[in-house]
Amino acid sequence: MVREEREPTPTGATGAAGATGVAGPEVAGPGVAGPGVAGPEVAGRPVGRVGLGCWRMTGADDATHGAWVGAAVDAGITLVDTADVYGLDWGGTGFGACEETLGRVLAAAPGLRDRIVLATKGGIVPGVPYDSSAAAITRACEASLRRLGVDHVDLYQIHRPDPFAHPEEVAGALVALRERGLVRAVGVSNHTVAQTRALVAHLPFALATTQPEYSLAHLDPLRDGTLDLCAETGVVPLAWSPLGGGRLVTGEGIRPGLGAAMDTVAERHGLDRAGVAVAFVCAHPTRPVALVGTRDADRLRALVDAAAVSLDRSTVYDLIEAAEGVPLP
Ligand SMILES: NC(=O)c1ccc[n+]([C@@H]2O[C@H](COP(=O)([O-])OP(=O)(O)OC[C@H]3O[C@@H](n4cnc5c(N)ncnc54)[C@H](OP(=O)(O)O)[C@@H]3O)[C@@H](O)[C@H]2O)c1
Repeated sequence: MVREEREPTPTGATGAAGATGVAGPEVAGPGVAGPGVAGPEVAGRPVGRVGLGCWRMTGADDATHGAWVGAAVDAGITLVDTADVYGLDWGGTGFGACEETLGRVLAAAPGLRDRIVLATKGGIVPGVPYDSSAAAITRACEASLRRLGVDHVDLYQIHRPDPFAHPEEVAGALVALRERGLVRAVGVSNHTVAQTRALVAHLPFALATTQPEYSLAHLDPLRDGTLDLCAETGVVPLAWSPLGGGRLVTGEGIRPGLGAAMDTVAERHGLDRAGVAVAFVCAHPTRPVALVGTRDADRLRALVDAAAVSLDRSTVYDLIEAAEGVPLP
């Protein structure tokens, strides 16, 4: 059963936690950035429209985890996203566990490291709960590299905002990590637009990514300025939980009308609900990367294919209306 869950909070409990496109002609619909077109670049390397999320990389042996990552890469996925805090739930053994697992997977598969755009996050400190001070971010990044067994990550993200760290100090830490060659590019996650802008103001280089929750189960980035900021600046959106953590498939906690609308679209395009969910995320002209978390290789491949399906404008608006249960004005 798919639980209605969130990533672990710092207490270990579960709780709340691009390149731009220009609208094209009507026939192209809102898939104006061309979902079938190669994805944006992160850290100077192209990534597909689907990225692999490692939050649920727990509870199996290394060979199984390795086969999962291998299947993702074979399916054309290049962006692999993890975090130091992953491992606190989903059967994990604690803080750092998922990075350690991914590190063993990379060590066991020579060449794999260079085929992926490796992304991790830091800044959540269990018991604190957030610490983005320069010392903490530096320490966290160095520890992530040790667990992953790599000399650098391609993308280092501040996992959650720490309003008690001045963005000038956060930026300073990120700049130093980049100058030391430990990170190629930096990003943020779960940051408001104002928090993102405040950090950007102190960075001497472009922010590469922002990682909001974005899906038919969570449409806020459409209207809270997150995707507008991506359109304005070229920051690449990495959409977390594009299937709503599975709820968009099972229907748990979503409006029945949304399930029915997704089924209609699914039938029209030869997809299932999961495919519709990913195609919806990919339809935005800022070309979000859908960070999916399925542990099933066949489902992974299906989601990569679904990302290439273009939904027309009226379809995405139908889905939004069904998700919100009210007609758009
Ligand atoms: N920055 C943040 O704060 C934050 C928060 C949450 C997540 N994330 C990122 O987003 C990634 C993905 O999150 P997520 O795992 O919640 O993403 P998701 O892709 O929305 O949900 C994946 C879940 O859906 C289930 N599912 C059920 N039916 C499915 C189907 N037909 N096809 C595919 N999956 C199906 C999967 O189960 P099966 O494995 O059984 O297929 C899996 O448990 C994370 O790994 C992490 O990288 C970031």
